[in-house]
Amino acid sequence: MSSRANVQSPATWKSRLSQTGWVLLPLRMFLGITLVYAGLLKFFDASYLDPNSPNGVQAQMLASAATSPISGLVTFSAEHATLFGLSIAFGELIAGLGIVLGVWTRVAALGGLLLSLSFFLTVSWGTDPYFFGPDIVFLFAFTPLVIGGDGGVLSFAAVIARATRRRMRLAVPAPAFESQEIVADVHRRTVLRTGATVAVIGAGALAVGAIGRTVAGNTPTASAPAAGVPAATAAAASGSATPGGVKIADAASVPVGGVFAFTNPSNDEPSFVLQPAAGTYLAYSGVCTHQGCTVGYDQASNEFSCPCHGARFDGTTGDVTRGPAKTPLAKLAVTSSNGSIYLV
Ligand code: FES
Repeated sequence: MSSRANVQSPATWKSRLSQTGWVLLPLRMFLGITLVYAGLLKFFDASYLDPNSPNGVQAQMLASAATSPISGLVTFSAEHATLFGLSIAFGELIAGLGIVLGVWTRVAALGGLLLSLSFFLTVSWGTDPYFFGPDIVFLFAFTPLVIGGDGGVLSFAAVIARATRRRMRLAVPAPAFESQEIVADVHRRTVLRTGATVAVIGAGALAVGAIGRTVAGNTPTASAPAAGVPAATAAAASGSATPGGVKIADAASVPVGGVFAFTNPSNDEPSFVLQPAAGTYLAYSGVCTHQGCTVGYDQASNEFSCPCHGARFDGTTGDVTRGPAKTPLAKLAVTSSNGSIYLV
């Protein structure tokens, strides 16, 4: 064949780029890489499985249960937060790898769609207007991949299928007409080999997850006393009552310019007490007023930020500095006496 015959005409490339696999390729790569990234973030996050962390999956599940239409299921998941948390992270990782590598792409995309649906029914439920929530967009973004798959473009499964045909000494690509027996035999062998590949990918994802949890286990969590946001000690969290209110912290635990995380003994909500200036104390509920996720404190900007939809609140006033939340964080009345902070 001459080199001239190998040059594709513009028309050929045009028609090729209009094929489903090429049309969906940018979306497929974005969704796949995003899922892998989201899974890795969870595996390597020290606070993700920490039941005492306001940023942990259990706290987020309990917060979502208050508004979710599937609150019973979410509460059950929160009671088994480690199992469900790891399942979510592993699901994101393996679905993302399947989509990026083009291995059982439709099934992987369906997994991504179901994960997005579960996030939509929990953390994003009630977002008003609905298009402010990212999960409904992800849910529908997976739909074309579920329908169209990878179209054999940059697809490891397609490579396996071609290799299978070559090993069987069959024509590549497959001719338009082939006997039913041959088609079934090729399909069976391809499925078995692809299944073995999926098992290898799954084992790799498990290994990465195990490494992530080991690394995360050696990292102090946000609730550790030495972290930037100290957390309530067991004694303080138990809320010993005094005539002035309920003790929530030793004053020495609240750094000037910093915050101290505690659980409000009256309603079990994650909460924060701040000391913006020496001897001045402020306290807020840590429950985001948008949809109930738990906010975190950013000392650099003196703002509370919500991991669910990005709302931000001023650390001095509790006021909203960025939506979608519309109302300030609930302020808690606190007083200090004899080296202790009390909720009054
Ligand atoms: Fe949506 Fe906080 S729950 S921004």
